[in-house]
Amino acid sequence: MKKIIIGITGASGSAYFLRVMEALSQQELEIHLIASDQGRKVLTYETGVILEEQARLWNKNRAGIILEDNENLFSPVASGSFRCDAMVILPCSMSTVAEIAGGITKTLLTRAADVMIKERRRLVLVPRETPLSTIHLKKMAELSQLGVTILPAMPGFYGHPQTLDEIIGFVAGKVLDSIEIENDCYQRWQGNYEK
Ligand SMILES: Cc1cc2nc3c(=O)[nH]c(=O)nc-3n(C[C@H](O)[C@H](O)[C@H](O)COP(=O)(O)O)c2cc1C
Repeated sequence: MKKIIIGITGASGSAYFLRVMEALSQQELEIHLIASDQGRKVLTYETGVILEEQARLWNKNRAGIILEDNENLFSPVASGSFRCDAMVILPCSMSTVAEIAGGITKTLLTRAADVMIKERRRLVLVPRETPLSTIHLKKMAELSQLGVTILPAMPGFYGHPQTLDEIIGFVAGKVLDSIEIENDCYQRWQGNYEK
């Protein structure tokens, strides 16, 4: 069974996280969920969702979801010997981007991300901030050069979305594609021969 780590931090865009988790929870997966303190707060502020309660609901689906303690550096996911297929942090704050780029690993979330980089495993960050400062751009470029996928929460509009749900689905689908999880969260580009 595939093992995936999902992180949530205090950037705006918790709805993307909820959509990705909803899709993942429908599949046979082992999911380790790590939230920063601010990630939990922004999730509740933006959506009214309380992570523990929502994790219990997701656990009624097919996937096994383990809600990790971000302070617990003794967790299996803190070690390279825990074989993990992919890790995604969404949304990813600029603070967490900078910590990971700087190799600062004082929480389980940043330690797990650091392990993914050192073990050369797939790490996907979904940053959200606007405008981006040179610090933000430099840190993201450094991570990209290390093989980290920077997948900004930037929905496309060429599919002519009609609802907020479709806009959220676009980003969620791109995230799931990046970790090779089958999904029908968004309409794929079919090409257009009419110019
Ligand atoms: C409502 C709200 C929205 C925020 N949105 C963003 C954002 O989109 N991007 C960002 O980098 N920080 C954002 N922040 C600031 C982060 O929450 C803050 O930098 C925090 O220290 C991040 O901590 P964490 O990375 O440990 O979750 C937001 C804060 C609040 C209260």
